[in-house]
Parts: sequence; C-alpha cells; structure tokens
Amino acid sequence: MTLNNILKSILFSTSVFSIASSLPLDDFSDIQGPYCETIGCCQSRQDGCSFPVLGTLCYCDEFCTNMEVEDCCPDFYPVCRHINITTTIRPFITTRRPPPPPAPSTSCLYNGRALFFKQKVKDNCNLCECTEVNGKLELLCETNVCLMDRNIIESVNLEQDMLGWRATNYSEFWGRTLDEGVRYRLGTLIPQSFVMRMNPVRRIYDIHSLPRNFDSEEIWPRYISGIQDQGWCGASWAISTAAVASDRYAIVSRGLEEVKLSAQNLLSCDTMGQQSCEGGHLDRAWSFIKKFGLVDEECFPYVAGNEPCTIRRSGKLIESGCKPPRFSERTRRYTVGPAYRLGNETDIMYEITKSGPVQATMKVHHDFYSYEGGIYRHSDLNYGQKTGYLSVRIVGWGEEYTSRGIQKYWKVANSWGTQWGENGYFRIVKGTNECEIESFVLGTWPHVDRKILLAHGRRNSNRI
Ligand SMILES: *[C@@H]1O[C@H](CO)[C@@H](O)[C@H](O)[C@H]1NC(C)=O
Ligand SMILES: *[C@@H]1O[C@H](CO)[C@@H](O)[C@H](O)[C@H]1NC(C)=O
Ligand SMILES: *[C@@H]1O[C@H](CO)[C@@H](O)[C@H](O)[C@H]1NC(C)=O
Repeated sequence: MTLNNILKSILFSTSVFSIASSLPLDDFSDIQGPYCETIGCCQSRQDGCSFPVLGTLCYCDEFCTNMEVEDCCPDFYPVCRHINITTTIRPFITTRRPPPPPAPSTSCLYNGRALFFKQKVKDNCNLCECTEVNGKLELLCETNVCLMDRNIIESVNLEQDMLGWRATNYSEFWGRTLDEGVRYRLGTLIPQSFVMRMNPVRRIYDIHSLPRNFDSEEIWPRYISGIQDQGWCGASWAISTAAVASDRYAIVSRGLEEVKLSAQNLLSCDTMGQQSCEGGHLDRAWSFIKKFGLVDEECFPYVAGNEPCTIRRSGKLIESGCKPPRFSERTRRYTVGPAYRLGNETDIMYEITKSGPVQATMKVHHDFYSYEGGIYRHSDLNYGQKTGYLSVRIVGWGEEYTSRGIQKYWKVANSWGTQWGENGYFRIVKGTNECEIESFVLGTWPHVDRKILLAHGRRNSNRI
C-alpha cells in the first residue's frame, strides 16, 4: 500500500458510511488487496470467512452477494468469480450482517433461549429435553401437574373479591408436582368407616353464650403450640395430634404441665397400621397416646423423616432418657383419655372455649397450597384433580365484613411453617362444612397429674 492508500484507509474507518457511499468507483480500487486471495473463497454462508477492513468485516462467502447491500471483499469478484473487476465493482458498504436466523434443526427454543441437542431444562415441576422428533429438534417435556400453578394464582387473584382470599407463589412448593404435595404435605389417612360412624358427644350449653370471636392464643397466651413445619413428610396426623394434646395439657393444668409433646414419637413409634411420612390415621394416633403416652419434643425432636423409634416404646420418662420434667410428680409419659368427636359448628365452638384447640381434618384441593391470606373457600376452578386429607388444629373463629356480607370463619393452625398463609395459619369459611372441615373434629382430655395440681395448684389458680 502507498502512503496515500493508508491515509485513505484511516479516513474510511472513521466515517465509513458517508465517505464510502459518496466515493467515485475508481477510488475503490485503492482498497483492493489480497483479501479473498488470502483466506480463500467459501461456499454458501460462512460468517467466519471474513477479513477485517475499514473497521468492519468484508466476506468472501457466496452469501455476500445475496444481500440488498453487498458485503463482499473488494477482490471477491476477480478472485472468486473470475470477473473483470473494473466493470463489476460496486461500492463496498460496511453494513453489518443480520444475525443468523435461529436454525430449528440445530437447537430447541425455551423462553427465547437456544438449547442444544440432548440439553435438559426444568420447567416448574417438569423436566424438558431437546430431542429429535422426525428429523427435527423439539423440546419435549414431562406432563406432570405442578403444585404451584401460574394459572391458579392468577385466576384466584382475579376473583379475589368474589372468593375472599388471595393466592401466591411459594418458592418452597415451586418445582414440585401436585402428587408430591398430596403425598408429603398432607398425610392424614381417611379414618376407617367404623370410626367415621363414631357418635359425637352431646354437649349442653346456651348457644347465645358463645362469643362471635374467639382466639385461643389471646385467651391462653403461652399455652398454645406454635406453628410447625412438617417438611416433605406426610406427618400432619402426628403433628396436629401432638399439638392438640400439648395445648390441652397446658390449658387444663393451667400452665403447670406446659409441655410440647413429640410428634416424632408418633411418627417413629406408632407404626401399627400407620405409614409414618406417608400418612397416618388419627384414631390410631390417639389410641397410641392413650395407651403408651408421648415424651416431650426435646426428648425426641422432630426430624421430618422415617426415623426409627430410638426411644423405648413405653416406660417412664427418665428411663427413656428424657430430662426430668418441671415437677417430680410427673414420672410417666403424657397420656390422654379417649378422643371424642364433636358433631356440629356450635359444639366445636363450645369445646374450644372450654378445653382449647381441637383437631380437624380437611380435604385439600389444588388451590389451597397457594393460599396467602383471607378467608379460604375452595375456588372450584378446573385444576389438578388430585386431593388428599390434612389434619389441622382449629384454634378459634371470628367474623369479617366482606363485599358478600358478614363472613364467619375458623382460624386454623397449619403445619407448613410460618412463611405459609397468615403466619402459618389460615382462615376458612365456617358453618358450611367447607372442604369437610367440620365433619371429623376431635377433642381429648389430658391426664394431668392430680398430685401436681394438688401440690402446686393453688398459687396458679387465679391465672385463668
Ligand atoms: C478488463 O478491463 C481492462 C480495462 O480496465 C481491459 O483492458 C481488459 O480487456 C478487460 N478484460 C476482459 C477479460 O474483459
Ligand atoms: C415462583 O417462584 C419460583 C422460585 O422463587 C420462581 O422461579 C418462579 O418463576 C415463580 N413463578 C411464578 C409464576 O411467579
Ligand atoms: C349442635 O348439637 C347440639 C347437641 O350436641 C345442639 O344442642 C345444638 O343446637 C347443635 N347446633 C347446631 C348449630 O345445630
């Protein structure tokens, strides 16, 4: 290159468009050089078959003539097409090539992202793979119904005023299937039919004396169990049973026997006809406590798994390796009387005011997992059909003024951690057996140690 040519090149590269397009043709011969001659001529489109020139790239592939504006290197025609340059040269415009179109035959698209052959990606609870179908690559996904569903969340929130509750996306549940939810977030087996025929106890009280709002946690602060998280273990049967028994021990003993009873004790040791993390029967759980009693949580902590029964199945507390309880009179495990069934809405209310929270079993539909707050009622939009049973603890009730009028609700403790719902609780329509929640409600009577009441009772008698 001459000095003049070099200067021109620099000039071109600073404002290539304006200068190049207005240059007389013959000046273009100045930037001729061994481009295609150096790198060779390429077939069809090959973006790598290029040479840096004028601050951009020129190409020596056949595609360089296919564009509205050519981007061939100056010596493309003489070298690659053997055509006399002075008659065919056209202005060399430094237009960038459009990006290559996605080639469906070499990749799959997922959310605008290209996946290569055999690449896998998780779409919520479904695994997808870029697979060859009839000679083309296609993204094939599993078709599980997912626990968290964008459509459920959106449609519930659209109908929020009508339904009375809101839905949200729980990251703990995202990526799981509805089947996993039913299997490991519920865990209450339907009672055997003879248990379902068990007659409710009869209660005598004045219906009008029942308050319109009641919250065990306000009446008996400190005595009511907090919210637990069962984890991915179908243990609601064990957790709700141990919690109701604990609450009642504290309430009936007026705080003298405030104890957190071990749900793991049930999960691991109550194995006859029970399925540990795969679910259990409530009637069997209560019979177990009646017969063998439970140790406290500290003695056998919850691990959300099918842990073997590492404590002795029966015997005194200390013999099982538990710490001595607050009062030395308590030597035996915590047992209860037979569980009894409550027959209707007002009986349940009366029972809670007298003895504390009760155990209830509800049918769980797909929309319930996304509950964020408000008064739940099953939305009956067409979702995943798989349902299961969850046992919970009814701790109180109330009324709320809504666009539909006055709405009565139960306040219920769930066992999905405090991040879920209203700090671990949910409210549900009351008085209409919503999700069967009023059809199998149980209470029990704790065997508070009489000697403890006699020896220590007096100074606590004004607590309630
Ligand atoms: C190519 O062009 C030159 C003039 O620049 C001319 O003398 C020559 O004959 C041409 N050759 C062919 C093969 O057309
Ligand atoms: C739900 O949460 C997960 C994890 O936090 C997130 O990846 C997902 O995109 C969310 N889904 C929706 C529908 O918001
Ligand atoms: C519930 O049953 C009791 C008897 O156990 C009865 O006195 C009461 O009226 C019933 N309540 C309702 C709402 O039917």
